[in-house]
Amino acid sequence: MASAPGVLSGKVAIVTGAGGGYGESYSRCLAEVGASVVMSDLHAEHLEAAAARLTADGLDVIATAADVTDRDQVHAMVRAGVDAFGGVDILVNNAGLMAEIPMDIPLAELSLDWWDRVLRVNLTGPFLCIQAVVPEMKKRGAGRIVNQSSGGAFGPSGVYGVSKLGLVSLTVTMAHELARFKITVNAIAPGFTNTEAALRALPAGMESVLDQLAPLKGQGSPEDVHGALLLLTTPAGDWITGQTLNVDGGWVMRI
Ligand SMILES: NC(=O)c1ccc[n+]([C@@H]2O[C@H](COP(=O)([O-])OP(=O)(O)OC[C@H]3O[C@@H](n4cnc5c(N)ncnc54)[C@H](O)[C@@H]3O)[C@@H](O)[C@H]2O)c1
Repeated sequence: MASAPGVLSGKVAIVTGAGGGYGESYSRCLAEVGASVVMSDLHAEHLEAAAARLTADGLDVIATAADVTDRDQVHAMVRAGVDAFGGVDILVNNAGLMAEIPMDIPLAELSLDWWDRVLRVNLTGPFLCIQAVVPEMKKRGAGRIVNQSSGGAFGPSGVYGVSKLGLVSLTVTMAHELARFKITVNAIAPGFTNTEAALRALPAGMESVLDQLAPLKGQGSPEDVHGALLLLTTPAGDWITGQTLNVDGGWVMRI
């Protein structure tokens, strides 16, 4: 645990894409330091199972299914948080398409359908979620927004990389716009992490290569990124906005 117990007591967080992998892990991380968490995902069945695991451990969470590309569903998700917990302080834009994307097709040959689909979920989704939470954060007098980008944004990674670098740009512009409301907007760019979805997308036999990918070696897990999440959502991060934090064992080193 990288932060004091109870540091987020009284705070309400929304985590999208919380039906497993990073989203479930991030929800657990925030709830374990006192936040009440609205877990949301497109896939209701996975979401209910993930929320049940956290509830069984005594954590304060609710599950609300929503498609982040649908403005009405996004607003209903935010409303569910307000109704259950009285407001919204933290948004973690984690939902995204990654493992599903056909990475073997060169970008120059990718169908418009895939291009649109990836940008809609990975970039338009976070945009809609931010638009929906800002009025609630203004009522609270402050807010924290964390966008889940990727190390893939900083190298050739097809439409996935395009969408995740777009998220970095969205982070900067929103951070600039929202600073006067004491709402910070930052991004985390993890390296390859051994979630079920990421491992499923790996070509057979690649697992051991991953151990050597980053200078610090070894495969990352979502828990390795909890420190960054806590920094950006707790008072330790009060004066940080518009930043993208690479958390990846040194895989991407930016000046
Ligand atoms: N695992 C990695 O190596 C890695 C590295 C860098 C960044 N990321 C990012 O982390 C996030 C989570 O990745 P993961 O590895 O946990 O994969 P994952 O597939 O388990 O998580 C993505 C979640 O988003 C949900 N989702 C997809 N479309 C949605 C929509 N339209 N509305 C709402 N929810 C939707 C899925 O149901 C899923 O639960 C993604 O944004 C991914 O790009 C992952």
